[in-house]
Amino acid sequence: MPAIVLVGAQWGDEGKGKATDLLGSRVGAVVKFNGGNNAGHTIVIGSGEQREKYALHLLPSGILTPGCTPIIGNGVVIDLGVLFQEIDGLEARGVDTSKLVVSASAHVIAPYNRTLDQVTERFLGKSKIGTTGRGIGPTYADKMSRIGIRVQDLFDRDVLHAKVTGALNLKNQVLVKIYNRKAFDVDAVVEELSAFAERLRPMVTDTSLLLEQMLDRGETVVLEAGQATLLDVDHGTYPFVTSSNATAGGACTGSGIPPTRISRVIAVVKAYTTRVGEGPFPTELLDEDGDRLRNVGAEFGTTTGRPRRCGWFDAVIGRYATRINGVTDFVLTKLDVLTGLPEVPVCVAYDVDGTRHDELPVNQAEFARAKPIYETFAGWTEDISTARTVTDLPDNARRYVDALEKMIKAPISAIGVGPGRDETVTVSDLLD
Ligand code: GDP
Ligand code: IMO
Ligand code: MG
Repeated sequence: MPAIVLVGAQWGDEGKGKATDLLGSRVGAVVKFNGGNNAGHTIVIGSGEQREKYALHLLPSGILTPGCTPIIGNGVVIDLGVLFQEIDGLEARGVDTSKLVVSASAHVIAPYNRTLDQVTERFLGKSKIGTTGRGIGPTYADKMSRIGIRVQDLFDRDVLHAKVTGALNLKNQVLVKIYNRKAFDVDAVVEELSAFAERLRPMVTDTSLLLEQMLDRGETVVLEAGQATLLDVDHGTYPFVTSSNATAGGACTGSGIPPTRISRVIAVVKAYTTRVGEGPFPTELLDEDGDRLRNVGAEFGTTTGRPRRCGWFDAVIGRYATRINGVTDFVLTKLDVLTGLPEVPVCVAYDVDGTRHDELPVNQAEFARAKPIYETFAGWTEDISTARTVTDLPDNARRYVDALEKMIKAPISAIGVGPGRDETVTVSDLLD
């Protein structure tokens, strides 16, 4: 089986971690290809007394699957302190992390970039993006400006020193003169980054070459996105986006796997919509319906703990995700959260200044003014958490899923009915 891409269809937190985990032991490698510890994936394994919950930020979800090789690709930005904290945390719980591989070309989040992320947000005031404050944006900016620090630089003290000196020449001016902050000391930064070098060294390799060899042997490789389609720096709701390509195209550049190796694109989509941080959100609910979705769906950020903004399902966004990513299969998650609602509205199009839009307006100012046009579906009251096949679902839940599938223009191959690995309705085999 060639490579499979797995992306988020909305604004993140669709349940990508659970979906990757679901693909299970037939997967040879899981590659994280973009983002960093702005991501937060919660995975729940086992049931009853044995139920274990894991929150992953930098490590690919495949780390929890015995035998699978977890790979941090070249497109990722790595906070080394967070990486080893996460490794140590998992090892302490008995998870074997020894197969982890890290790309020599991935970029490293330097301490000044964490500071710059936070002070820039404060400076922006009401126009802030609402970032996670992890230094993601400034680190990708350094990569594009060609002043970034890469994993391979950590193993040559002279190169590292020269690169940190070059970056701080400009950044210290900005920090001191614009933001009124203390300058960073080059030696202290070099020391902080080098502290992890020896522990990291055995994990570092040419991951693109490794992946080619695995694919040539016929192994299945999953390319797992952080963030999601509408947070993509090119295709999302710019400027309220993250600083990487979280869509299927980013899977190639962020891993070194060519497009011709990819046979399937799975998009994870929530049965309603959530967003963390600032930016337009046409179906957002600021009333008790929104509070209900937040409470029943436990919509609080895995990374920052912020309450997630909640709203009804937006089929325009779903269709857009299909177009941008070339989705072959959807995994619909959190259908159980809608149980008990008398009726469930779905946004089928937008009204922008009196004109109907069936597709996402390319102009962001128009998108910000878009008013949802709703179609309403009858709800269901039956508990669906034990459903495992489509026929186990109540008629109204099935009608809702069928309607979404038609609107988003790609088949729904699995349906989440609870956070647990087993709490899934299987429609067709995602690895077939
Ligand atoms: P990710 O960032 O896309 O991996 O998603 P997160 O882990 O940040 O957020 C998804 C949350 O929903 C997690 O707490 C999951 O345990 C949970 N979850 C995933 N699928 C389902 C589902 O089908 N039903 C319910 N109730 N929870 C789910
Ligand atoms: P996962 O992988 C939801 C949002 C932030 C902010 C914007 C930019 O768990 O789905 P950044 O720190 O990346 O510069 O912030 O992007 N954001 C996410 N929202 N889920 C995520 O990841 C996110 N990663 C970043 O809230 O609005
Ligand atoms: Mg998340």
